[in-house]
Amino acid sequence: MQYQWYPGHMAKAKRQMQEDLKLIDVLIELVDARAPYSSKNPDIDTMAAGKARVLLLNKSDLADQKRNEEWKTYYENQGYYVVLADSKTGGGIKGVRDMVAKACQAKRERDRRRGILNRPIRAMVTGIPNVGKSTFINTFAGRSVTKTGNRPGVTKGKQWIRLDKDVELLDTPGILWPKFEGQNMGLRVALIGSINSEILLPVELAYQLCQFLADFYPGMMAAKYGIEECNSKNEMLSQIAEKRACLLKGGNLDMERAANLLLDDFRNGRIGNFTLEWHGDKDEMDKDKVKGLEMKKG
Ligand code: G4P
Repeated sequence: MQYQWYPGHMAKAKRQMQEDLKLIDVLIELVDARAPYSSKNPDIDTMAAGKARVLLLNKSDLADQKRNEEWKTYYENQGYYVVLADSKTGGGIKGVRDMVAKACQAKRERDRRRGILNRPIRAMVTGIPNVGKSTFINTFAGRSVTKTGNRPGVTKGKQWIRLDKDVELLDTPGILWPKFEGQNMGLRVALIGSINSEILLPVELAYQLCQFLADFYPGMMAAKYGIEECNSKNEMLSQIAEKRACLLKGGNLDMERAANLLLDDFRNGRIGNFTLEWHGDKDEMDKDKVKGLEMKKG
C-alpha cells in the first residue's frame, strides 16, 4: 500500500504509535535490507526509548548477501537484536522468536522478581510502507493463531494474536512515514517502492538505477536484458526498450514502459540481488557517510 504523507497524517500516525507503544514490551521494526539506512525512520528511536528492540532486515533474499552481513553487524553494534529475514518464504522467521525472547529477558526477570509469572510478552511490528510488515505478521503468526483482544482495561479495542503461551502480537502494524534527508536517500526509498513514484518519474528513477547497476554491479543488466552497459544511462534504457519491444504507436521507443518494466524487475529481484547503500569502513558509518546510490545528473 502506498501513502502520500501530509503533516496531518504524520501527526495522527505518531499519536497512534505512541498509544500502541504503551501497550507493548518489544518492538519488531522492519527495514528493507536493500536500503537498511534510508528505510529506517529515526524518530522511532525516541518514541520507543526504553523498549526492547528487534530489527528485521527484511527482503534480505533480494539484497546483496555480503552487505546483509555488514548491516547486521552494524545494527547489532548499536544494540539491536537483528534478524536477516525473508518474510515471503519464511526464511529467518523462526529466529525472530528467539530474538524476541532474548530482547525481553531482562523484563521477564524483573517481572519474576515482582511475582508476575506467565504474563505473555507483548510485541508490535512497525516500519515504513512496503517493507513487508503485513507479510511478516502473516508468516510469523502462521495459520494456527488465535486472536485475542478487547480485554477490559488492558487491550481495549486492540486485537492481539496469540503466538504461543509466551508471546502476543498486536495484529495491526504501526506505519511509520519515510523520513529521509536529501535526494539520495529519497531516491533509494523510491526505488524500493516505499514512496509514491510521482515524486520521481519512473523514467528518471530507471535512469538512476541503470547508472547505479552499471557502476556497482557490472554485467548484471547486460546478462538480464542482453544489452551493452555503457556510460549513458539513457542509452541503456533505450536498449532495454528495444530488446523488450516497448514501442509507441508510431514506432518510437516507449521509455516509460521500459522504465516500469526495469523497476518492476528490480523490485521483485528478477535482475539479481542488490543493496543500494553501504558504509565505506567501520568508522565511516555515520549519517553523512552512507555511500551507494547517488542521484547523477545528465
Ligand atoms: P507493508 O505491510 O509493509 O506495506 O508491506 P507488505 O507486507 O504489503 O509487502 C509489500 C510487498 O513486499 C509484497 O509484494 C510482499 O509480497 C513483498 N515482500 C514482503 N516481504 C518480503 C520478503 O522478505 N522478500 C520478498 N522477496 N518480498 C517480500 P507485492 O508485490 O505487493 O505483493 P505480492 O506480489 O506478494 O502479492
